[in-house]
Amino acid sequence: MAKEKTIYTCTACAGTSAKWLGKCPHCEEWNTLIEGVEESASASKNRYSTARNLAPASAVTALSAIEAQDVDRTPTGIEELDRVLGGGIVEAGVVLIGGDPGIGKSTLLLQAMDAIQRKSGNTLYVTGEESGSQVAMRARRLGLDQSGVSVLAETQLEKIIATLEARTPRIAVIDSIQTVYSEQLSSAPGSVSQVRECAAHLTRLAKTSGISIVLVGHVTKEGALAGPRVLEHMVDTVLYFEGETHSSFRLVRAIKNRFGAVNEIGVFAMTERGLKGVSNPSAIFLSQHAEPVAGSCVMVTLEGSRPMLVEIQALVDHSGPSPRRLSVGLDRDRLAMLLAVLHRHAGVACMDQDVFVNAVGGVRISEPAADLAVLLAIQSSLRGKPLPKGFIAFGEIGLAGEVRPAPRGQERLKEAAKLGFTVALIPKANAPKKPIEGLTVHAVERVDEAINWVRQGF
Ligand code: TYD
Ligand code: MG
Repeated sequence: MAKEKTIYTCTACAGTSAKWLGKCPHCEEWNTLIEGVEESASASKNRYSTARNLAPASAVTALSAIEAQDVDRTPTGIEELDRVLGGGIVEAGVVLIGGDPGIGKSTLLLQAMDAIQRKSGNTLYVTGEESGSQVAMRARRLGLDQSGVSVLAETQLEKIIATLEARTPRIAVIDSIQTVYSEQLSSAPGSVSQVRECAAHLTRLAKTSGISIVLVGHVTKEGALAGPRVLEHMVDTVLYFEGETHSSFRLVRAIKNRFGAVNEIGVFAMTERGLKGVSNPSAIFLSQHAEPVAGSCVMVTLEGSRPMLVEIQALVDHSGPSPRRLSVGLDRDRLAMLLAVLHRHAGVACMDQDVFVNAVGGVRISEPAADLAVLLAIQSSLRGKPLPKGFIAFGEIGLAGEVRPAPRGQERLKEAAKLGFTVALIPKANAPKKPIEGLTVHAVERVDEAINWVRQGF
């Protein structure tokens, strides 16, 4: 096969250049040219005109006349993983699974592949990061010595594709997409153009051959661009690992799923023998304080189908000339907004204070229902006074100082009561119609009401 021509395309104006330049010759933007391959002009022209002459117009069908078919899924046999996938890996589907290095991507996939191999056979694990013997060592550690999963240690895209075409496995894992490189491109493995081009080829192969492909991608802190983010639009399902490597809990969250619900969460614990599903995770993100401490407020988050209780911690401390606002697991811009609302609508000023907030256990909370708990934790740290024992709060806060309802408030309250929480501060619109046993509920409409309730000693 003739080597295809390398071409550089500008991400800003889509102009092209035959060589790499720092500045786009068309729109004069800097650092926007990305390497790609172009079929030779005459070949593509010939193909196009031949195709146009020979091909009849394609048939178009009314939507109502198309029979909606259920997709064919292979369950992985790991319940928490199937939950986020929406029931299993879809035939010809492409799943991207991202996360920090060392978080457990290879472990989880090896466990899943072994389970699938036992049930339906014909799996292939392509390893580019580790040698075959390293994968075998992990399998031993997981107690999968007799595993029938086939392993291919290879990083060259063309060879991987040839192997996939020859063996047509039911499911193939590519661990990781950053190590795969194509001969056609001169840029280094792991660069944006290599990652994108290789993932595009593999996706096309999945669609034409029916092989389900799972791509592993590292999220890199500094070079986030070369990480899995550039692939999100190409694939059917995107899963991300969350959690701190030093804590044993891991969350797998679906952030895109063409074949299932998004924001569904799978919860695992990393053990000596791999990842184990946690089927009842609602209390794992609480730190155990014997007595309530200042700067801590528990919230009930509900992403996906299960409510979880998460402790929000805040530390407010005198700052130097430029006060810092830092958040772990929560959105920093939202924190700045909440501090402004706290000042403007409840008269609590943090201008000369550093403010740090943290969602315990490495969980990331993106839903605005965390707002009220964040504000109460800040207020509690500022005053040095703990919130009541057995206290939870949730509710979104608006710029006008209003406390807005959170979706499915009843479920959140019931879960808190089930775990022994006794006092709740919630938005008025979430107030339960019937009392919930064991739970005293205070419903508020505005931020100043909430803050005053705390100030006056509950
Ligand atoms: P790994 O799956 O290699 O991470 P990734 O592929 O995301 O980079 O897992 C890494 C960590 O998990 C490693 O630090 C060791 C730990 N681990 C266990 O605690 N128990 C186990 O059974 C296995 C296989 C790994
Ligand atoms: Mg790995």
